[in-house]
Amino acid sequence: MLVLHVVGARPNFMKAAPLFRELQKHSGIRQVLIHTGQHYDVNMSDVFFQQLRIPAPDVNLQVSSKTHAQQTAEIMSRLEGVVLEHRPDWVLVYGDVNSTAAAALVCAKLQVRVAHVEAGLRSYDRSMPEELNRLVTDQLSDLLFTPSEDANRNLAREGIPAEKVHLVGNIMIDTLIEMLPESGKHMPADVPPRFGLVTLHRPSNVDDPHWLREMLAELHHIASELPIIFPVHPRTRERIAQLRAGSNGLRLLDPLPYLSFLALQQRASIVVTDSGGIQEETTYLGVPCLTVRDNTERPITIDEGTNVLVGRSPKRIREEIEQVLAGKAKQGRIPALWDGKTSQRIASVLMRDRARAARAGSLGSA
Ligand code: UD1
Repeated sequence: MLVLHVVGARPNFMKAAPLFRELQKHSGIRQVLIHTGQHYDVNMSDVFFQQLRIPAPDVNLQVSSKTHAQQTAEIMSRLEGVVLEHRPDWVLVYGDVNSTAAAALVCAKLQVRVAHVEAGLRSYDRSMPEELNRLVTDQLSDLLFTPSEDANRNLAREGIPAEKVHLVGNIMIDTLIEMLPESGKHMPADVPPRFGLVTLHRPSNVDDPHWLREMLAELHHIASELPIIFPVHPRTRERIAQLRAGSNGLRLLDPLPYLSFLALQQRASIVVTDSGGIQEETTYLGVPCLTVRDNTERPITIDEGTNVLVGRSPKRIREEIEQVLAGKAKQGRIPALWDGKTSQRIASVLMRDRARAARAGSLGSA
């Protein structure tokens, strides 16, 4: 069986890594790793491959940054030939980035079967490009692997047949559980005993100069009580530079490798973010998380975990941080099936499919 994985952006790499390694344990499976090149900086891409111990990609489509339409179109036109050349039995796509939707569309048109890992999440906010990517990818996928029950309910509501959907748990947590023991060795230097960790990169936050200036002022204010460490996404770095706003008092770092960021998350008093994956990682680690968005496609991190949506309100951010500093942080629990065995469950489904296809093949030829 030939399995082709398509990854492109930072949050894809920790989702593909455990499944790639799990499938290596099964005989008769050949794997091809395609990187679209959506993220291309060393510290947004290469360092993740090294730390997550996945081989260098077999093919890099070198698409890099463009408008959404151009990036999606380039990935599609460059990927088509690769899929035709390999004719895989399955193409695995991950998460909700432009590379995910572009790959699903290419495969669906070529009638090559696609499996979506992290299917069914919905923010119900179509102004988010990721929501459009999730909707398109799920409609086109032949197998949908979901992280939590809410995802299954969303897919049922959209008319996806139940037999295509498998509740397998959160694959990113497989990587977290595996890597946590060694993350301590990768703690950045000179980290204070208590600190808040911040990441912001969504266009809805960083492309609005007024709001970005307000956020930075609020973080600066908080930093007088709680030191702030802020690894900065390239887009955010650019926007902060354009603002020429003061960021003194905040420790701005380049984007960090997986293990260093994990070490910081585990030790942080609180995390302030607009990322999807970090909402889940903090829930697993039991670290309070404030999400600077009005909605989330990961409601389980609110219902069961440590996540709180604070929208665009500096006042809410300040109040919530004061609660945490007063020892009154929201408590949470680890959701079901976030247990490090998601990649095993996905591999079993693929193996069952292979066995079924082999039986059908031998019946057909009999
Ligand atoms: C993408 C995903 C987002 C994910 C994020 C994680 C989509 C629609 N968005 O957003 O869901 O949360 O990745 O990081 O797919 N850039 C660099 N070097 C890089 C990559 C990007 O400098 O290696 C800069 C470029 O200026 C680029 C900008 O970052 O224009 C945005 O990159 P892009 O891949 O378009 O989207 P992200 O914001 O990273």
